[in-house]
Amino acid sequence: MSAEKTNQSWGGRFSEPVDAFVARFTASVDFDKRLYRHDIMGSITHATMLEQAGVLSAAERDAIIEGLTQIQGEIEAGQFDWRVDLEDVHMNIEARLTDRIGITGKKLHTGRSRNDQVATDIRLWLRDEIDTILGEITRLQQGLLAQAEQHAEVIMPGFTHLQTAQPVSFGHHLLAWFEMLSRDHERLVDCRKRVNRMPLGSAALAGTTYPIQREITCRLLGFEAIGGNSLDGVSDRDFAIEFCAAASLAMMHLSRFSEELVLWTSAQFNFIELPDRFCTGSSIMPQKKNPDVPELVRGKSGRVFGALMGLLTLMKGQPLAYNKDNQEDKEPLFDAADTLRDSLRAFADMVPALKPRIEVMREAARRGFSTATDLADYLVRKGLPFRDCHEIVGHAVKYGVSTGKDLAEMSLDELRQFSDQITDDVFAVLTLEGSVNARDHIGGTAPNQVRAAVARGKELLAAR
Ligand code: ARG
Repeated sequence: MSAEKTNQSWGGRFSEPVDAFVARFTASVDFDKRLYRHDIMGSITHATMLEQAGVLSAAERDAIIEGLTQIQGEIEAGQFDWRVDLEDVHMNIEARLTDRIGITGKKLHTGRSRNDQVATDIRLWLRDEIDTILGEITRLQQGLLAQAEQHAEVIMPGFTHLQTAQPVSFGHHLLAWFEMLSRDHERLVDCRKRVNRMPLGSAALAGTTYPIQREITCRLLGFEAIGGNSLDGVSDRDFAIEFCAAASLAMMHLSRFSEELVLWTSAQFNFIELPDRFCTGSSIMPQKKNPDVPELVRGKSGRVFGALMGLLTLMKGQPLAYNKDNQEDKEPLFDAADTLRDSLRAFADMVPALKPRIEVMREAARRGFSTATDLADYLVRKGLPFRDCHEIVGHAVKYGVSTGKDLAEMSLDELRQFSDQITDDVFAVLTLEGSVNARDHIGGTAPNQVRAAVARGKELLAAR
């Protein structure tokens, strides 16, 4: 049987066409076509380099660049006929190029293999995705800083074990999320360095016999370094795993953030109001306004953790160099990047619209003995050992529970039942403002520290 009846790119040594189901089963074009722009960018650069290396004539290079540019236009206009029998994005574009410009199109693949081509494409694509994601992180952080600045003085209960612990500034709580996102940003910036290394020139696995000049393609594609080993170049997917690990941490942070928003919008907490445009209703219960965006983001974290586990498992035990297994890297990676980007986008849109219910938060902080530690610290300042103070305040709290009074609501006589060291200056430390203002050091919840942290945060974002 002639090669025409098999695949036109590699059919030469085959004597029968690939089984129709196997062709579909092994094809990746349905999902890797989204790499088209980076594939074309890589091919134009490769052709440019081949001309400088004397492998292509200037006319051939120009015909290739012209053809690829037109193909990009066809794809973007939705006029490109993606063919499953051509397997993947690379062979679809190359076949179309040959259709358009004839035999010169077949020269594009000189000194290259799909193995280094696909590794190059994914890295170029992921580099762009990381840049978009970094922008969304910054936008979300800007929203948090603005809210924290506006609400530095708003007091809410801080929790441990989800039990009221100590009063904190709402702005301070928002800035905890800011810190997490700063680490996520750092991790992705760091990950980008290892994404941005060039496998192109590794060819199939061993390099190529043509006089390629990898410095040229490296510079033109904006890579930071040339991969130092061709076997590693075609088979390394660490960068994708590393991205999914960083993305997993970011999604884990967003899921914690989500969980608090879900709690806080519930009737039981009622701490914040989420604008209607970020919620949906129930088809049966007319009173419902569900915090869908945070719930969905909380749930979507699972997809990204799954991508990380999937890619680790994909790579585990693979011998050098390229194996077809690697084609399975794309869907999890694409999904992880899409999920993180969209989740960040939803949060960046939503955070500036959050409205704290200041009185409800304040009332919750007033209840629940949130200033008990302040009373203990007060007694320490009067000269008692901390453990005894803890015990004394424990008795006062027990009394408060049985009488339904918070510490600040007790009279001086009531408080003095527990220690005669208590005098009427105690009420200053039992107020919410007294409590937060007393935590006046870097990283503490005093409103002036929150404002200082906002200023540091603005500097951090401005330096990006
Ligand atoms: N579609 C393939 C992938 O995603 C491209 C590389 C194929 N190389 C090969 N020798 N079959 O990995």
